[in-house]
Amino acid sequence: MLPLATRAPAKINLSLHVLGRRADGYHELDSLVAFAGTGDRLTLRPGATLGLQTSGPTAVSAGHDADNLVLKAARLLVERMPGVKVGVFHLVKRLPVAAGIGGGSSDAAAALRLLARLNDLPLSHPAIVDAARETGADVLVCLQARARVMRGTGEVLGPVLRLPRLFAVLVNPGVPVATPEIFRALGLPPGEIRRSPTASDWPMTSAADLVAALRDARNDLEPAACSLQPLVTEVLRRLSETPDCRLARMSGSGATVFGLFDDADAAAAAARQIQAVRPHWWVKPTMLR
Ligand code: C5P
Repeated sequence: MLPLATRAPAKINLSLHVLGRRADGYHELDSLVAFAGTGDRLTLRPGATLGLQTSGPTAVSAGHDADNLVLKAARLLVERMPGVKVGVFHLVKRLPVAAGIGGGSSDAAAALRLLARLNDLPLSHPAIVDAARETGADVLVCLQARARVMRGTGEVLGPVLRLPRLFAVLVNPGVPVATPEIFRALGLPPGEIRRSPTASDWPMTSAADLVAALRDARNDLEPAACSLQPLVTEVLRRLSETPDCRLARMSGSGATVFGLFDDADAAAAAARQIQAVRPHWWVKPTMLR
């Protein structure tokens, strides 16, 4: 049987508002999430045992089999459905890791998509949904990998949104950022949750309307990331200074920053400009969806 294949696209938090810290330490979020055309690639060769091989430019930093989220997600599904068909995954890792663009979460979601396909299960099957939730906070939104509002700690998803034509340049300066440290730096007291400051009805009529609404929004983790990792400040400045950049903002807990552009040519030109002065940074022009 031929291997099954899927892409694991980068996740972009177009906005990320922190509403408070729960008693268990996790933070409640309200985020408009989109997905990029760029990402990792995952294949599954059906077989008797579960396994994982990795290759690609960022495979080494993605770490061992044992802590790879692909296997974690697959094992959580097997626990819930002991007879489920499995096989050996091959992950081609291209996204930077610990980068705020959900690389590991998207890989885990891709693994669940392939296992769902192999076993004729809908993505809405409770075992798939539970395995996604338990693997990590961002895995559920990565299952369908379509733009939508994400709330709570990632378990509450709004309907899939049809984004206007919007282009982005993703820039990562090559420094990993530890998510728990960024959340801790907010210093929020446990147990106090604000009501959501944003409506869920983001304007999707045109890129200009959406960008205008996004300018009124924030990534609440950006100031903490900038003070813990000053390179984030430099990336934000370099992106916002490129011609035609409509908005530059950090994704997730960083350090990846995205710039928004109206068209593919402007995004490609901005990417070339940044790559020319910072050849070692990871710079990717892409469409969003
Ligand atoms: O879900 P993930 O493993 O990426 O989260 C890493 C850490 O980031 C958590 O252990 C927690 O400290 C923090 N976090 C949080 N609130 C969230 C997501 C993550 O406090 N909504």
